[in-house]
Amino acid sequence: MDTEDLKTRREALSDALSRTDALLDSFQDVLKQDFSGSGHERRDFTQTVERILPDAAPEVEETASQEPVHADERLLMTYQSLCSDAMGCTRCGLCRTRTNVVFGTGCKDRPVVMVIGEGPGENEDLQGVPFVGKAGQYLDRWLAAISLSRETNVYITNTVKCRPPQNRDPYPEEKDSCFAFLKRQIELVSPQAILCLGKPASTLMTGRPDASMGALRGKFFFYDGIPMMCTYHPAAVLRDLSLKRPVWDDLKKLARYLGLLPGGAS
Ligand code: URA
Repeated sequence: MDTEDLKTRREALSDALSRTDALLDSFQDVLKQDFSGSGHERRDFTQTVERILPDAAPEVEETASQEPVHADERLLMTYQSLCSDAMGCTRCGLCRTRTNVVFGTGCKDRPVVMVIGEGPGENEDLQGVPFVGKAGQYLDRWLAAISLSRETNVYITNTVKCRPPQNRDPYPEEKDSCFAFLKRQIELVSPQAILCLGKPASTLMTGRPDASMGALRGKFFFYDGIPMMCTYHPAAVLRDLSLKRPVWDDLKKLARYLGLLPGGAS
């Protein structure tokens, strides 16, 4: 900032503060009608101006890196750059058959729950958005039942970001290749809790590759200090309706823990 520029800005600031002061005085007149007490003297803003725009401000060269960036923007920039990296990813063979990389959707700033599914299906691959098919619509109903939604307080992603052909389970090496993205997504988004859907997500996130869904569901685990619940995948429940009851029990347990339902942790 050159000397002339600084002088102009100091004058403008002083002027603005004086005008605000005058405005406050007129409010004071109104307030005096209702409350006792005297108005205040016209203030001298010289010292305030000095604190905000010091006269002896050192000459600094303005560069892009010195532009103030709001913390949330910085988070978004890093999220966006991670997302852009994923868009060009060729770390595993799934890149050869995908239509779109399906990175994630929903609330990216401290969601109440981060949902981790298995991998994109046909609709997700075509649209580039996770859980938009039948299983996704069913998932949205589960979430709504405990006051959650992807529009407000849930972030949704998958263990792998590209569709496995014929919707087969992702291979362990595919999940491993993609895990760096998932890990960073969790760090950036910083969810209050994680909900794993189905065996591929549950075994990956708990680090128990041989465990069954029956053994993993309905308990609290911790991933990097974040409480985590595993339950059956909505597509599995659509195939076998007897799984509805345990899923509902698991969701209620998570919701109580998060204070979304009365009853506290159970
Ligand atoms: N099933 C998943 O696991 N993820 C999706 O995104 C869609 C269906």
